[in-house]
Amino acid sequence: MTFAGRVVRWQRTHGRSGLPWQDTRDPYRVWLSEIMLQQTQVATVLDYYARFIARFPHVRALAAAELDEVLALWSGLGYYSRARNMHRCAREVMALHGGEFPGNALALRTLPGVGRSTAAAIAAFCFGERVAILDGNVKRVLARALGFGADLAVAAHERALWAHAETLLPRRALREAMPRYTQGLMDLGAQVCLPRRPDCPACPLRELCVARREGHPQRYPVKTRRIARGSQSLWLLHARAPDGSVWLEQRPSTGIWAGLYCLPAFDSRDALRGALPPARRRELVDQEPIVHALTHKDLHLHPVRAAVSGAPVRATRGAWFASHQWARLGLPAPIRRLLADG
Ligand code: ADE
Repeated sequence: MTFAGRVVRWQRTHGRSGLPWQDTRDPYRVWLSEIMLQQTQVATVLDYYARFIARFPHVRALAAAELDEVLALWSGLGYYSRARNMHRCAREVMALHGGEFPGNALALRTLPGVGRSTAAAIAAFCFGERVAILDGNVKRVLARALGFGADLAVAAHERALWAHAETLLPRRALREAMPRYTQGLMDLGAQVCLPRRPDCPACPLRELCVARREGHPQRYPVKTRRIARGSQSLWLLHARAPDGSVWLEQRPSTGIWAGLYCLPAFDSRDALRGALPPARRRELVDQEPIVHALTHKDLHLHPVRAAVSGAPVRATRGAWFASHQWARLGLPAPIRRLLADG
């Protein structure tokens, strides 16, 4: 049996099924799910997906919404550039494509936030188009099956793996086979061909897998470039008014937590003190620091409590928000937890 045939047959009986975005060929729904699933596990996405579809049942509704509302609904999923791109994408589909997602992978790729693999996934799921996906999990599955040992940090090698991926695609009955095959590769990567402990006995590709024959599947894929993990410290002014409301500012449109609401953040404790009216500087109370992991760095957050009234900081882009108000804003997850703890 062919490579594709094995994946398709395995997906029917062992792959994931019954997920809410699997019983539709509506590109809007599939696109929404694929963006959410890019860096986030299925179990987490389920609730968010349901809330997004309930609030924005079609692309027109999403395009008509304010970005702030989209960010608020996204709050907690992380990687907020996805939400901003998603909103831009919805507006572009309305403005440039008459409210219909483009009908093939090449055109889908022109949309904000839609890369080559995501475009291919949407086109395979919705239109049965014969195009290859290659996200991180699928790279691992294919590199192992093929014994592809070239360094994927080198662009030319990654292109070569894309070319291999294209040769493996199903050739017949594409409308049924392409969605199954695409989902099957994702499912193998998520459930069987795991980074450290691949479950080779459960794999439909075991008989043709080069890495398994060699005895060390974990050696694939090869990727040399390591992103040095950085760290950054931020001091957060946690100002509470006597009525319990908190002072929040909207973050700039670039950088960490772009566009979200946040406590005023400073690069040092001195900078935080300096922003307060002189009479308030003695009343600061340092709270327990929090470490929050972003993709490429650890954020060390140092909340500093100040009991104030009036605008607490000089250059003010902020405002006081009562708890029933901030609960509905787009807030970074660690800030939401901090505020909820009082
Ligand atoms: N990850 C990315 N796309 C996915 C999908 N369609 N199903 C499950 N996990 C995924």
